[in-house]
Amino acid sequence: MKVTDKSYTCENCHCFDISKDGYVNLLMSQQSSVKRHGDDKVMVRSRRDFLEKGFYKELLDGICDAVKSNVTENDVIADIGCGEGYYTGAVLNCGDFNVFGIDISKDALKYAAKSLKNAQFAVASAFSLPFSDKSVDCVLNVFAPSAYEEFSRVLKDGGLLIKAVPLEDHLWELKCALYKEPYKNKPEIRNDEIFKLVSVKEIKYKIKLTENEDILNLFRMTPYYYKTGREETENLLRKNELETTVHFGVEIYEKR
Ligand SMILES: C[S@@+](CC[C@H](N)C(=O)[O-])C[C@H]1O[C@@H](n2cnc3c(N)ncnc32)[C@H](O)[C@@H]1O
Repeated sequence: MKVTDKSYTCENCHCFDISKDGYVNLLMSQQSSVKRHGDDKVMVRSRRDFLEKGFYKELLDGICDAVKSNVTENDVIADIGCGEGYYTGAVLNCGDFNVFGIDISKDALKYAAKSLKNAQFAVASAFSLPFSDKSVDCVLNVFAPSAYEEFSRVLKDGGLLIKAVPLEDHLWELKCALYKEPYKNKPEIRNDEIFKLVSVKEIKYKIKLTENEDILNLFRMTPYYYKTGREETENLLRKNELETTVHFGVEIYEKR
């Protein structure tokens, strides 16, 4: 695509304007018939407020270490499902990379594009990415849908997929406060004909939330927010203190 200050133009002369906040909407009309487009305003604002307090700083550091040790200067990094850009921004500060953020939620990208002027942001689906074949050096995918075939299409041969996922005990105590019969996460590690597993780093610690707002923000940034009934959330709505385990995996894969 040809990029100017105001728009992106594709080879078929379709022109996509850059919004005043600085992102471009590349979601095709046939992809936008569904009602829910990723995270809504409440989820986005809750996640931003929660992450800004540093509760997931160790994960942020783990992702930055993975990028610094594996990605070369001037490489193209695409953060797929970037949300409001908490990790995208950290990666921008790790080196001289060409950073792109993709998310299906306009609300999320408004925040990301406003605060991170040195990256390019597009509203698009992870399953139909606006990159040509073999044009990306590293796909970053943090707590977001993994479109493995599409990631493989856009990655260069030998390119990297850096994924952050919740492991077994992630938010166990929060789940216990919500559900009578909570279940543990069942993480899946790939090692197949498309992606070769290079390494997995486990990060596990406890966070202590001492304000009701922090507890609610954490709840609203998870899928439990839209999956849990009013009755089950009552207990949480009144809590002013919660200590919960956070348990992350940072997985690095190489495209075969
Ligand atoms: C749990 S959030 C993670 C956001 C960010 N990576 C972070 O960890 O702060 C998942 C993100 O994936 C986005 N998302 C959901 N479905 C998507 C899709 N099909 N394509 C692109 N993004 C999607 C959501 O809008 C949301 O911003």
